[in-house]
Amino acid sequence: MPASPDSLAPRNFGTGRMWSDALGRRHTGAVFLLLALCTSPVNATGAEPDAATSASVAAMTSAPTAPADTRPSQGSELSAQLGKQLKQTLQSAMADGGPVAAIDVCQLQAPAIAATIATPGIHVGRTALRVRNSNNAPDPAQIKILQDFERRLSAGESAETIEQFDSADDGSARYMKAIVTQPLCTTCHGTELPPEIAAAITQRYPNDAAVGFAPGSLRGAFVVEWSSSQ
Ligand code: HEC
Repeated sequence: MPASPDSLAPRNFGTGRMWSDALGRRHTGAVFLLLALCTSPVNATGAEPDAATSASVAAMTSAPTAPADTRPSQGSELSAQLGKQLKQTLQSAMADGGPVAAIDVCQLQAPAIAATIATPGIHVGRTALRVRNSNNAPDPAQIKILQDFERRLSAGESAETIEQFDSADDGSARYMKAIVTQPLCTTCHGTELPPEIAAAITQRYPNDAAVGFAPGSLRGAFVVEWSSSQ
């Protein structure tokens, strides 16, 4: 079952941008604190520290540290895996049978590839503000993130770093990573599609809204969602 989207809105790491830095800083901060506690003399006079201080130091140094959440990096890996497999499939289909044949491959293979990458409790897919396949339509929380990604991309941020991880108290979480339009994509998602491609797309997707994208613009995002049982 996909993660419940509405439960994911609250806790994101810092600005939601560059969670790895946010985590890294928090981690570094914690290590620094522990180092400071371990290396600096507890009592500057050299006398035995009093019992209360020893107890609190012991408590702090032996306190169990929460294990780092590995889902942001897992999300990043799964997204990269999906992106790589889709692009390879697309490129070989285009080379083998041309763009019209590649449309069929996209239609059949895109959901199938995503399904092979997903595991129980982890949903992997793609979404966008304007979709071709309505199964990929974003939920309200995803719409907000996609709008934020567009803003960040137009503010000059590198597509590589445009990602966001949100986790909720119920254990569910969501990772999203921007997908930017490349020149190759405009054959089927651009402003002026060759007529035979436009016809083939309209035939298969009568409600297609995934056209009009210029290279460099936000095409959509990879989405990895963990259900609350994970
Ligand atoms: C040969 C035509 C073709 C090309 C080229 C192509 N796509 Fe698509 N794209 C499709 C089709 C068909 C779908 C719908 C797939 C489905 O039914 O799940 C789609 C769906 C998508 C989606 C999912 C959201 C939606 O609109 O349903 C994204 C994101 C996407 N494409 C990105 C890209 C990117 C990025 C590139 C360039 C690397 C690209 N596409 C190149 C045909 C194409």
